[in-house]
Amino acid sequence: MRAALRAVGLSALLLSVMAVPTGGPSDLRLAYRHSPCDGVVLVQHKGEWGHVCNQEWTLKEASVVCRQLGCGHAVGAPKYVPLPGEVVQPWLHNVSCRGDESSLWGCSLGAWTQSQCPYEWVVVALCSNGTFQAVRLVQGRSPCAGLPEIRNMNSVDRLCGLHKEEATVFCQELECGPALQAPRQGGGSARKYMTCKGTEPTIRNCRLNNNLRSGCDFQQDAQVVCSGHTEVRLVGGEHPCSGRLEVRRGLTWGTVCDADLDLATAHVVCRELQCGVAVSTPGDAHFGRGSGPVWTEAFHCEGHESLLFHCPRGPGNQCGHGQDAGLRCSGEARRVCMVLLKEMLLLWVEGREEREARLLVTEGCDPYGRTTEPGLFCRDVSRVLRLSWVGS
Ligand SMILES: *[C@@H]1O[C@H](CO)[C@@H](O)[C@H](O)[C@H]1NC(C)=O
Ligand SMILES: *[C@@H]1O[C@H](CO)[C@@H](O)[C@H](O)[C@H]1NC(C)=O
Repeated sequence: MRAALRAVGLSALLLSVMAVPTGGPSDLRLAYRHSPCDGVVLVQHKGEWGHVCNQEWTLKEASVVCRQLGCGHAVGAPKYVPLPGEVVQPWLHNVSCRGDESSLWGCSLGAWTQSQCPYEWVVVALCSNGTFQAVRLVQGRSPCAGLPEIRNMNSVDRLCGLHKEEATVFCQELECGPALQAPRQGGGSARKYMTCKGTEPTIRNCRLNNNLRSGCDFQQDAQVVCSGHTEVRLVGGEHPCSGRLEVRRGLTWGTVCDADLDLATAHVVCRELQCGVAVSTPGDAHFGRGSGPVWTEAFHCEGHESLLFHCPRGPGNQCGHGQDAGLRCSGEARRVCMVLLKEMLLLWVEGREEREARLLVTEGCDPYGRTTEPGLFCRDVSRVLRLSWVGS
């Protein structure tokens, strides 16, 4: 009798085990993002939803998930970063796929159990039909510097609080060389949108915290600067649109040999500074000698480029600061604009909002009187204009 009972019990157990991998009752979805085609992988089994727990989670497994959901191929297979205190509900452990299975249930499924899962093993799938479109650095002076963001199909995720490891992956993905500056210094992973080891081939493989959309202070974030970054400035001239040409590569400002500054390249510099076109290129340190390196790699622009960054480069001359290149551009537009703006602000400062107005000046402009954030600045100008008109 006991043997028969045991046999019944055993076959019931066998039945329930055999029912597991054949699909049917099990279900799958991606959660916590705007799109059904990217997010944390949730699996349902025996009426309960839970996370998938995998130490090894690759594009092979993620691509099976994407295929099963009709979401195209996988573009990323990151892990999840739960919020502090968020409970992980492990359910399916140690999935392993060949990559060509039509559904996850055709893969080798380690075990359905709610036993412990280290939180860094909770898996995410990003599919080609999802919203994750591109990563980029914005508001910098070149595509290789700026604030990191992910462009989604209908929205943009600003990535707050990143450190050197994440900046490294960003710079690499953008083909900008190593990262020289990260938004945040030091360690600590609290309230980061994304966590990388620094060795991932793409930001899509970094661990994603899909829930974190607030609670991070963007004001504390510096721009990411990659070694491939370049920008220009004119120093020591009569106005911001003339002076000694200084080129920043990565974080370092240096000067250019006058023999390396042809007119096409000079036009591009003027355009980058929104200073019109080049008028003359006085050499021999006409605007004073610079300090720092004299770059030996020259820019050979065709003339139509929007930034010096986009110009072809090649070997240049070797010279000392006595041959520093200078440049006069036609425009003074920015300076006029700034003078105008200062008058507007003065008007406004006479009112009650003095401190705020000062703040606007220091935050909107760099020491050369140019805007650091064009979009923001323009909006602020119009706000100031409106306020000053209302007030007068
Ligand atoms: C994914 O994209 C394909 C091709 O554009 C489309 O046919 C399919 O319906 C999409 N699936 C989902 C879930 O949006
Ligand atoms: C999953 O795999 C890991 C590493 O191989 C192992 O330590 C763990 O016990 C496995 N989990 C389950 C539930 O079998």
